[in-house]
Amino acid sequence: MKKLITAFLFASIVTAGQAQDNVAPKPRLENFAKYFTGEKKWLVLPVKNGAAKKNIELWVNGEMVRWFDMELADGNPDWYAYLDISAWKGKKIELRAEALSVDSKAFSTIEQSDEDTNAGELYHEKLRGQLHFSPKRGWTNDPNGLVYYNGEYHLFFQHNPYGRGWGNMHWGHAVSKDLLHWKEIGEALYPDKFGPMFSGGAVVDANNTSGLGENGKPAMVMFYTGAKAWAQCLAWTTDGRAFHKLDHAVVPRINKDNRDPKVVWHEPSKKWVMVVWVERDNAQNSIQILTSPDLKNWKEAGVVYGGKGDDRYLFECPEFYELPVDGNTKEKKWVLTAANGEYAVGTFDGEKFTPEEEKLFNQRGRDYYASQTYSNEPKGRRVEIGWWRTNTDKDGMTFNQSQSIPTELKLTRTKEGIRLTRTPVEEMNALRVKTYPFSKMKLKAGAANPLAKVNVELAEIRVEFEPGSAKEVTFNVRGVPVVYNVAKQELTIDGVTSPAPLQNGKQSMIIYADRIGLEVYASNGLLFMPVNINITAENRTLAVSATGGTANINNLTVYELKSIWE
Ligand code: FRU
Repeated sequence: MKKLITAFLFASIVTAGQAQDNVAPKPRLENFAKYFTGEKKWLVLPVKNGAAKKNIELWVNGEMVRWFDMELADGNPDWYAYLDISAWKGKKIELRAEALSVDSKAFSTIEQSDEDTNAGELYHEKLRGQLHFSPKRGWTNDPNGLVYYNGEYHLFFQHNPYGRGWGNMHWGHAVSKDLLHWKEIGEALYPDKFGPMFSGGAVVDANNTSGLGENGKPAMVMFYTGAKAWAQCLAWTTDGRAFHKLDHAVVPRINKDNRDPKVVWHEPSKKWVMVVWVERDNAQNSIQILTSPDLKNWKEAGVVYGGKGDDRYLFECPEFYELPVDGNTKEKKWVLTAANGEYAVGTFDGEKFTPEEEKLFNQRGRDYYASQTYSNEPKGRRVEIGWWRTNTDKDGMTFNQSQSIPTELKLTRTKEGIRLTRTPVEEMNALRVKTYPFSKMKLKAGAANPLAKVNVELAEIRVEFEPGSAKEVTFNVRGVPVVYNVAKQELTIDGVTSPAPLQNGKQSMIIYADRIGLEVYASNGLLFMPVNINITAENRTLAVSATGGTANINNLTVYELKSIWE
């Protein structure tokens, strides 16, 4: 970036290469600047997917206030990115771009706007998940700062507002009253001198331990990694809309790569506890625990070691929370996990986590990653959302990637030990618009399809069956077979196979079908299996069949769902 600035100061035209024999001359390139007065809310920037990335800078009053790279369209954009310039109304703004060809038209189309739309298509596009949050535009990965504050569930998320690929990490921001219907508000955290805004968590400082609360209003305090300083930084808000940052890191770099701070309150020691991923020497993953009385001053406490190198146990995006076992508040355990979802169950004394069981696994789908849970959840639940790597950067979409359906986490005692379960949050039931109930039935091999009359796009299927003599029980969900192999007690969906043990001889499953894939909960929530697959829009059929014998369906209900965007 420094290079770009210097180039602007001392040269406006650069010749990128000299013509040589048999070598086509390279186009003459120019660093470009456009001046305008801020009048409207947004600067609308044209994007061409796949075009060469250009460095862009915005300068106001001699200060560089925004910088990012983007695939700037030079004629015919695929879509428009929106940059909020409302902070500089009436001010002279300079927009700079690096190395455009001398006859570039890129800047001739850049306009200001008070409207934030995408030609009316927004939220109903072909590959827009209708049960899942995704940003209006640009790329998302990890959910960040999940917290309930001032009557709203906040969903911050890793966001590239200017492209469908990873980069320029901001914290995007959406809010919801019910964990279903999300309103995207705009960027909460922009890259700054500490670097891009990498992942982290948020808490509500109800007792104002940080002193950041105002007029009796507690602060929401957010922790993130400044990914140039590789330090953990702090931001806060007292209204859930305007965000402020401390101008120093609260946890300087510990070692090599370290990132993704998540903070919880530890009641017995009356301290805040931070878990952060730290790479030790020889690619050793570890989770550093730190404690603080006030969210600002942190002291290193215990370390938990994970896998090494390719063994991604306890690699990035740690999560740490306490849950009762089978709802018994007298028996609580702590769960420590990280981006791939492998987890440990153990005890925690406020400084040191002692694992009792390690490397457990509950989510075995495809491309579910970096999940995080809500702080300050009003019903006392442990609700999780994860990044779901959906195949959405196609067909002219203006956005890419999705967040999962929120799920509730619990601990239960099994024969093997204490295990996590996942079930969809009960709020999801509000999306049901039509019910197809089915009575208890015997499903013979070769029998007619009981679901033949169902016609649905967005579907929820709830079923409990006993396999009986059947070898396989298959649900065909809009062309995607969900196959239960009875002998192996395994579920296979689109080439992904996961263990799904019978519980007291029964298999219970919940299947959600959206445009971008299936989320399947099996074995009473002991298995969570999200499988990303774009489903053919025209196929609205469901089928259930048995092979090799007869299965007993104890109960089966199909719900047609409405979109969360309505
Ligand atoms: C996980 C991750 C985090 C990091 C973020 C950057 O997906 O790599 O460790 O903070 O994404 O976008």
